[in-house]
Amino acid sequence: MHGQNVELSGVSMTYPNGFTAVHPTDLTINAGEFFSILGPSGCGKTTILRMISGFLEPSTGSISIGAQSVNGLGPNKRPTALIFQTLALFPLMSVWENVAFGLEARGVSKQERRRKAEELLELVALTGQAEKKPTELSGGQRQRVAVARALAVEPAVLLLDEPLSALDLKLRQHMRAELKDIQRKTGVTFIYITHDQGEALAMSDRVAVMNEGRIEQIATAAELYNMPQTPFAATFVGEQNVFGGRVKHTNGTTVEVETGQGLLRGRNFNDLTVGEEALVLVRPERIEIADADGVAGNEDSNRISGQLLRRDLEGALINLYLRSGEQEIHVNLHNKGNRDFSADESMTLAFSTADTAVMRPGPMARSSA
Ligand SMILES: Nc1ncnc2c1ncn2[C@@H]1O[C@H](COP(=O)(O)OP(=O)(O)OP(=O)(O)O)[C@@H](O)[C@H]1O
Ligand SMILES: [Mg+2]
Repeated sequence: MHGQNVELSGVSMTYPNGFTAVHPTDLTINAGEFFSILGPSGCGKTTILRMISGFLEPSTGSISIGAQSVNGLGPNKRPTALIFQTLALFPLMSVWENVAFGLEARGVSKQERRRKAEELLELVALTGQAEKKPTELSGGQRQRVAVARALAVEPAVLLLDEPLSALDLKLRQHMRAELKDIQRKTGVTFIYITHDQGEALAMSDRVAVMNEGRIEQIATAAELYNMPQTPFAATFVGEQNVFGGRVKHTNGTTVEVETGQGLLRGRNFNDLTVGEEALVLVRPERIEIADADGVAGNEDSNRISGQLLRRDLEGALINLYLRSGEQEIHVNLHNKGNRDFSADESMTLAFSTADTAVMRPGPMARSSA
């Protein structure tokens, strides 16, 4: 097996009812890459996948796989295999027959189908389970049968539509490592769809963040977390404190914004200019608290004073919720036996310019602070 690259150019989808689920999109996924599309429910993830797999013809644009145009080709003619959001194994067939299902239609002999199924079951760590029925397997094992079945037809590109969503958290986390391992062993290009940021960050070579039919950013997990380029990408992945304001001053890559909490300085991700409206974002774990002597941050850190509203101990982490003017601020500390915090305590918070992102206002994820 070997992976192929996938290229979308100007691909969009407007459904017959006039709703545009995917706006014109350019996207290149490399051969052998583990690529995720991450976004909230209804943002167009499945629509993109169905266009790549050939179940849906794009309204505009073209798709090529391995430098071959696949426009107009049906799903069976494309070098892709799809694993659905809700997986359907055949309950009356044994595990190996499920895996070999796609091979029968291709005229592969029974002996060869059996051999191939055994080989794939070994790949997904299900050796010795060939004769069982799907109902005799755990949820995670069934999911691996589905992966083996999809790989049986030797696709160059495997499309996975939230394949772990039906599993409980522990199993999902275990399956992340398994899927990543299978991908590495086969070299097949994986296009993985999820609304779970942890899943996307843990498995992917690159992640595309999608919102309302548009890809907002494509980056590695670390880039996405540390250098999000849009308010949506910044707030959908991880948590943020968000301050609104207006640009007062710019200086190369940094920018100063006048906010309700005073002047805050951060990285100028969107080339904002003086007078523009801006959002200032800082993650809860990048904020420091003044020590017993009232010292906080470095010389050029942003400083805000706030009053403690609530303090939650979450084992390894301590969450502090403060009020500063009209704004609630969330601070996330490692539990290192820190000093005690008293109710209503006034404190000084500090966060560095490097940890502060400034961007043009835009839609944000609902879950953000
Ligand atoms: N056949 C259709 N006709 C009209 N609108 C549709 C059709 N299928 C999907 N949509 C709409 O297109 C948008 C994108 O749907 P899609 O299934 O691609 O979302 P998704 O990102 O996969 O969501 P989820 O995470 O819930 O699976 C949604 O608003 C959906 O209501
Ligand atoms: Mg979907």
